[in-house]
Amino acid sequence: MCGIIGLVGSSDKFPLKPGIMVYRGLLRLEYRGYDSAGVGSVTSKGVQILKGKGSIRELEKKLCLSCIDGAIVIGHTRWATHGAPSDTNAHPHTDCNNKIAVVHNGIIQNYQELRDILIGKGHIFRSETDTEVVPHLIEEIYRRLGDFYESFKRAISMLKGSYAIVVITSYEPDKLFFAKKDSPLIIGLGDGFNLVASDIPAILEYTRYVITLRDNWIGYVSSNKILIEDLADSRVVEWKKLVRTVEWSIEDAVKGGYPHFMMKEIHEQPRALKETLYGVQRDPAIVKAVELLARADNVYITGAGTSYHACYYYSILSSILAKRLVYSFIASEYSVYASTADKPDVLIVVSQSGETMDALKALRAFKEKGVSIIAVSNVVDSAIPRESDLAVYTRAGPEIGVAATKTFTTQTLVLSWLSIALGQGTGALTKSEAEYYRGWLKKSAEIVAKTISWNEALAMELADWMRKKRSVYYLSRGIGVPIAMEGALKLKEIAYIHAEAYPAGESKHGPIALVEEDFPVIFIVPEHRELEKALLGNIQEMKARGASIIGVAAESTSLSNYFDYWFKIPSSHWILTSISHILPQQLLAYYTSVKRGFNPDRPRNLAKTVTVE
Ligand code: AGP
Repeated sequence: MCGIIGLVGSSDKFPLKPGIMVYRGLLRLEYRGYDSAGVGSVTSKGVQILKGKGSIRELEKKLCLSCIDGAIVIGHTRWATHGAPSDTNAHPHTDCNNKIAVVHNGIIQNYQELRDILIGKGHIFRSETDTEVVPHLIEEIYRRLGDFYESFKRAISMLKGSYAIVVITSYEPDKLFFAKKDSPLIIGLGDGFNLVASDIPAILEYTRYVITLRDNWIGYVSSNKILIEDLADSRVVEWKKLVRTVEWSIEDAVKGGYPHFMMKEIHEQPRALKETLYGVQRDPAIVKAVELLARADNVYITGAGTSYHACYYYSILSSILAKRLVYSFIASEYSVYASTADKPDVLIVVSQSGETMDALKALRAFKEKGVSIIAVSNVVDSAIPRESDLAVYTRAGPEIGVAATKTFTTQTLVLSWLSIALGQGTGALTKSEAEYYRGWLKKSAEIVAKTISWNEALAMELADWMRKKRSVYYLSRGIGVPIAMEGALKLKEIAYIHAEAYPAGESKHGPIALVEEDFPVIFIVPEHRELEKALLGNIQEMKARGASIIGVAAESTSLSNYFDYWFKIPSSHWILTSISHILPQQLLAYYTSVKRGFNPDRPRNLAKTVTVE
């Protein structure tokens, strides 16, 4: 995920200097990415670029992004996918002659193929990004056609993948060219100036009139003209009918209309899962990870908090799908496990931020023993992937809410994919069995979208009751246990209610002593006949002590008669438990926190990234 803004107009019409307008717009897009940024404008000598690695504010101090001159300016804030965050990989990217500058959000799937062709024709590439093929491709076509817009259109029609692209050029210095497919892009209409941006917050300070672009739309804006065409049928789009007035305040808009980042991130999960799936399906690191894991003596997996729950989930999946026992442990306890680890072993380190000190320490202790390290992270080029032998990435986009939501579901998606690949690689699964399981993972986005819409109202209602409780149990068996643990962590960290998770079979060994009339017990019921059967006894023993039972179970469950409240999950497959069954628990924790008067985005005593031991 990246953020884009572009601005064009007559010099006397801008409310502020264009460089300042773009800089302020970038700050509002920072939630989309923050590892590098840049701006570009058209000057008499070609395009001028200021860009580098670091946050927008750091770069402002270093390069003065807002000082960029010109009446046509573009800006970009990056969240790295292809190529680590660096000065050269930062956007805008330019052609060989510095006449064309491009900012892009999305992924160009066929960039390698295009890059090879363009290098063959003498183009010099400076970055490792997929984006850089775009200016070179336009340049190549423009050499033959001499018509910039036509060259731009032809170049865009050669791209495969997802993109929101904005281009400036000294060949046509008064136009901002744009194209959109699968990544968001809007036009903002000002008085004597126009804007293009990834999202409303970037332009809301300057205009409330916007057009939301659709897939395959392409065109340009100047100070007083807008042209939009549909690439699919070359039709000119009647855009005047599409202009709408935005009612949000700036404050609302940063959160995309949601009251908190956590809520926004819960709702972003279908897209985050889709993007992660897209990445993992093509990631050569998965093949290498399978090779390492298949020949390892012992496999360990570690992380902290939510990431540890993803680790625990993987260890269960690995024994089911790959018939491979995996030791999962909490990162801060690394010394117990590192002491027996040896060279032919593998350690998987899971960390959203890639910077958690406990996980980093575990990594280093195992590395010292000669153990091979595989990182699973959401942040490209962060410390943990950098120090690992191999890195697989989730593509959840930046997570701002302290409580992990979309990064948990995407982590478990990646780890599920890995265990299927390992199962197939070691012969524990046949090709068709592996395909069957992968088929279910491919439905994750759809199931999650439905689960959210089916359960939001109940979560809100139940939060009213939950907010008065002092203590809650989260119980499950097998694959559901780490999901119960994650649910309990969510409630604890943002609603400040004591919540404890454990395997349901443990109840009679102690915890049941606390249960009394109306004590909340949340049962996570995976879509698995044997587990359902085993959970029935545990539900009954809780009910007999007066507990109120909240079931998180598929619509096909046989246990619904025992539930006092039922978070209904669309019927799918147990392999999706981590993705589908966590959703109602995220929602319940969120609404309970809000109803108790807390800010779920800023839980007390917690930080998003814990870089201390
Ligand atoms: C979960 O909601 C918390 N934010 C926390 O437990 C978190 O998962 C943990 O600190 C690990 O962070 P990481 O994934 O960035 O390593």
